[in-house]
Order: sequence, then C-alpha cells, then structure tokens
Amino acid sequence: MKTKLGLFVLMAAFFAVVCISCGKESSEKNTSPVNTEKVKSGPKSILILSSSPRRGGNSEILCNEFKKGAEEANHTVEMININDHDIQFFENKYYERSDNPEDADDAIRIIHKMAAADVIVLSSPVYFYSMTGQMKTLIDRVFKYEKDLKSKEFYYIITATDNNEEALEGTIQGFRGFIHCLYDSREIGIVRGFGARDSGSILKKPTAVQEAYEFGKNV
Ligand SMILES: Cc1cc2nc3c(=O)[nH]c(=O)nc-3n(C[C@H](O)[C@H](O)[C@H](O)COP(=O)(O)O)c2cc1C
Repeated sequence: MKTKLGLFVLMAAFFAVVCISCGKESSEKNTSPVNTEKVKSGPKSILILSSSPRRGGNSEILCNEFKKGAEEANHTVEMININDHDIQFFENKYYERSDNPEDADDAIRIIHKMAAADVIVLSSPVYFYSMTGQMKTLIDRVFKYEKDLKSKEFYYIITATDNNEEALEGTIQGFRGFIHCLYDSREIGIVRGFGARDSGSILKKPTAVQEAYEFGKNV
C-alpha cells in the first residue's frame, strides 16, 4: 500500500514538473506534438524560418523547394533567414512579456509573424546532433508567447552530413519539445535531408528535394 502511494506521489510530481517546465496548465497540454491532422484547409499563410548561416546551403535549398511547391498551390509564403535579424538570448527581463516595440528586438517581430501564420516551417542543419544556436535562441524567446502560437501546423526541414536518419533525431526531439509546449499545434511533416555535407550536395538526394517540394505543394 505504502509502495503504491509512493509511486502515485512520484508520478504526480513528475507530471507537475513536466507541465510547470512548459509553463502550461496540464489540461491544455498537447497529448502529443505529432498529430498530422491539419488544422485548416484552403489557402494558407506560411512562414519559413531558415536558420543556417550558410547562404544557398542545403537547408536553404530545401526551404526554397517547399516554398516553390506552396506558391504553385497558391499559398502565401514568407521566408526569413533568422541570421539576418537581431535575436537576443533569453534574459532575465524576458520573464515579463512586453509587446512594446521599443523594448523589442527582432525576436518579438518574428514571433508576431509566427502568430499570424497558419503554417510554420522550422529549418535547421544538424549542429552537434542538435539545432543551430540561432534557432534555439529564437525558440527560447517564445517563452510567454506560447499562447499566441495556437493551432499551428509545423513542418521541420533538417539537413546533416551523416548518412543516416538517426543523425537528425536530436534536432527533431528539440523541435518536438517546443511544439509540445504550444497549444493545439502539431507536427505535420519532416523533410529529412541527411547525407549532405558540402553546400549544394543535398541536390544529390532527390528524395529529400522532392519531399520538400511535395510538402509545400500539399500543405
Ligand atoms: C557547427 C557544425 C556542427 C555540425 N554538426 C553535425 C553533426 O552533429 N552531425 C552531422 O551529421 N552533421 C553536422 N554538421 C554538418 C551540417 O549539418 C551539414 O553540412 C548540413 O548539410 C549543413 O546544412 P546547410 O548547408 O544548410 O548549412 C555540422 C556542421 C557545422 C557547421
């Protein structure tokens, strides 16, 4: 009996910690971020967030394919390379939300664009089995704005040198952890661009290129 009670208390504490760490009420939590049921049909507004500092590189090529497919299907697409923007690390002052444009760096402006989009594409090369620091910094800045990113459809575009899917796992889990802390947002698809080291070498991986285009076309 004592053991059962102990187990119950331990599990309750675990779930409390998980929810608190997300900043979300347990009743509002996604059961799973992987839910390929689309939120919206018809024309959508799409925001592609590219985070590689290598211009014209592998992830950017895949982002452009996604964009091409989506535009051909008459969706509205905006693509941003977040390296072009001033995105500060999460700091103590960001525990308080502020929508005053004078306080804000570009992170808040980009988060407002995310809030206005139906579909958000997160793109990153694998950096030491995780995502780019630029992308992680932007994601951290969503703290206190999670409720603004409600019911979004997410895609991930990820590239890596290693020629196996497992190389992408850490990056995928990082993105999933983020979506898990949003409200009714879901992961619709992943473009897995593994086996591509040099800039442009992703073009030798027609499956990933085609997949990016098809996801865009059928968004
Ligand atoms: C800082 C850094 C860390 C990297 N870490 C990994 C890694 O852990 N695993 C891997 O397979 N490739 C790694 N790579 C290679 C890139 O993921 C790969 O070249 C990718 O295609 C780059 O995409 P991009 O052209 O869009 O920048 C790393 C590259 C850099 C610059």
